[in-house]
Amino acid sequence: MNFRKLCVLGLGYIGLPTASTFATHGLQVVGVDINPDIIETLRGGSLHIHEPGLGAVLEAALESGKLTVSTDLEEADAFLIAVPTPFYPDRHGEYDGRQYRRADMRAVISATEAIVPHLRKGNLVVLESTSPPRTTVDLVAPVLERSGLKAGSDFFLCYSPERVLPGHILSELIENARVVGGITPESAAAGRDLYATFVKGEIIETDATTAEMVKIMENTTRDVNIAIANEFSRLAEKFGVDVWEAIRLANLHPRINILSPGPGVGGHCISVDPWFFVEAAPELSELIYHARQVNDSQPRFVVNKVKQALGELRGKTIAALGLAYKPDVDDLRESPATEVVHLLQDAGAVVNVWEPFKPEARMKDVHMTKSLDAAIHDADAILLLVKHTEFATLPPAELASHTRARIAIDTVNAWDPKNWQSAGFTLHRLGANKPISGL
Ligand SMILES: NC(=O)c1ccc[n+]([C@@H]2O[C@H](COP(=O)([O-])OP(=O)(O)OC[C@H]3O[C@@H](n4cnc5c(N)ncnc54)[C@H](O)[C@@H]3O)[C@@H](O)[C@H]2O)c1
Repeated sequence: MNFRKLCVLGLGYIGLPTASTFATHGLQVVGVDINPDIIETLRGGSLHIHEPGLGAVLEAALESGKLTVSTDLEEADAFLIAVPTPFYPDRHGEYDGRQYRRADMRAVISATEAIVPHLRKGNLVVLESTSPPRTTVDLVAPVLERSGLKAGSDFFLCYSPERVLPGHILSELIENARVVGGITPESAAAGRDLYATFVKGEIIETDATTAEMVKIMENTTRDVNIAIANEFSRLAEKFGVDVWEAIRLANLHPRINILSPGPGVGGHCISVDPWFFVEAAPELSELIYHARQVNDSQPRFVVNKVKQALGELRGKTIAALGLAYKPDVDDLRESPATEVVHLLQDAGAVVNVWEPFKPEARMKDVHMTKSLDAAIHDADAILLLVKHTEFATLPPAELASHTRARIAIDTVNAWDPKNWQSAGFTLHRLGANKPISGL
C-alpha cells in the first residue's frame, strides 16, 4: 500500500518522535494532541519533553512543511494512536482477597472515537499504545465500526507495540525490530507497508492479539526479573552479603543474567503493563501479581535503610538526589523515588529534592530545590535515588565542602565506597548491610 498522509494522535514521548520521523521520511503528517498547550509549544518550535535529538528532527519536520500540529484531526490514509494507557489511581479490582490495578483506556477510546468521522474505505488504523490483550479486536474495532465500515474488509486495523528506550527513541524507532499485528493478514501487510517508510529493523507480521501480548510479556518479564533482584537485595542484607558483588559473580555464569536492584520500579510501562495481565486473568497471574507487590514495596525497604543509617527521622533533613524513574531521563511518572520521598516525609523527615532533568517540576508534597547545593547544604544525609550520570560522577571530596552531611545512602550502586569513605562520608548501600565508615 502507498501512504501519503498520516494522522498521529498523541504527541508525547512516543507520538512526537514517530510523527516527526514519518515526516522526515516523506509522509505528510498531521500531529494531533488534545492538549492545546502542547500544540502551542510545538508550533513555537519548542519541546515539552526531553529526548536527545528530538529537537533537530522536529525542526526539520516542521520546516519542510511535512509536519503540522493541531488539536483537530483531518482525513488521511492512515491513523496512528499513541495516547496514554495508565492505570486508574483510585479504582481497583479484587480477586481472591488481592487488590489489582485496572487499566484506564479512556484516552484510547476517545482517540478512536475521534477517528470515526474521518475514517474512509481503504484507510489503515494502527494502535501503538500499550494495551491489555484483545483491546484492538474487542475495543478499538467496534468503536471504529460505528463509522458503518467493517474492520478488516473496509479498512485495515493493526496493533504495533512500541519498544523504544527513552533516551534512544529516535535511533531505536528506526533500527529496532517491529512487530505488526493485523486483525487480518491484509491489515498486517498494510501496517508493514506503513512502517517500511523508515524502519530498518526486521518487520514481523502477526495477529493483533499476539502483538499486544508480546509487548506486555516484554515488560512483565522485566518487572519479574527486577523483583527477584530486589528480593535478593533484601536477602543479601539479612545474610551480611554485598548483593552487587554476589550478582556480579552469579552473572559470570553463562546462562544467568540477574538485573540490578534499586529503590523500586517506575515509569508508565514496566510498573503498569503487568497489571494488564492481572486484570484480564487474575486467576492465571500469581507470579506477576507478587512481583508487582515486591517492586511496589521496595521504597519502604529503602526508607527502613535510611532509618538504620539516621536513626529517628523526625527533624532530620535529607537531600534526595533524583526523582526520575530511571537514569538520564526527565520522566517522573510512577517514579519509586517519589514514593520514597513521601514515605520519608510521613516519617517526619524534611526532604529536599534535586532533579537536574526537571528542575522546574512542581509535584504535590515534594519540595524541589533549584540546585544540588540547595538540596545538600543543610542536609543530615544524602540519599541517591537515581543513577543519573551526573550523580554517579559526583566527586565526594568536593561535595563534602558543600554540605554538613557525613552520611550518604546509595540505592543504585553508583558510588565507589572507597572514594566516599576517604572523603569523610559513611556510605550505606542498598543490598549491603555493612556501612563503610568515613574518617
Ligand atoms: N514512553 C515510553 O517510553 C513508551 C514506550 C513504549 C510504549 N509506550 C506506550 O505508548 C503510549 C503513549 O505513551 P507516551 O509516553 O507517549 O505518553 P505521553 O503521556 O508522553 O503522551 C501522550 C499524549 O497523548 C495526548 N492525548 C491524550 N488523549 C488524547 C486523545 N484522545 N487524542 C489525542 N491526544 C491525546 C496527551 O495529551 C499526551 O500529550 C502508552 O500506551 C505507553 O504505555 C510508551
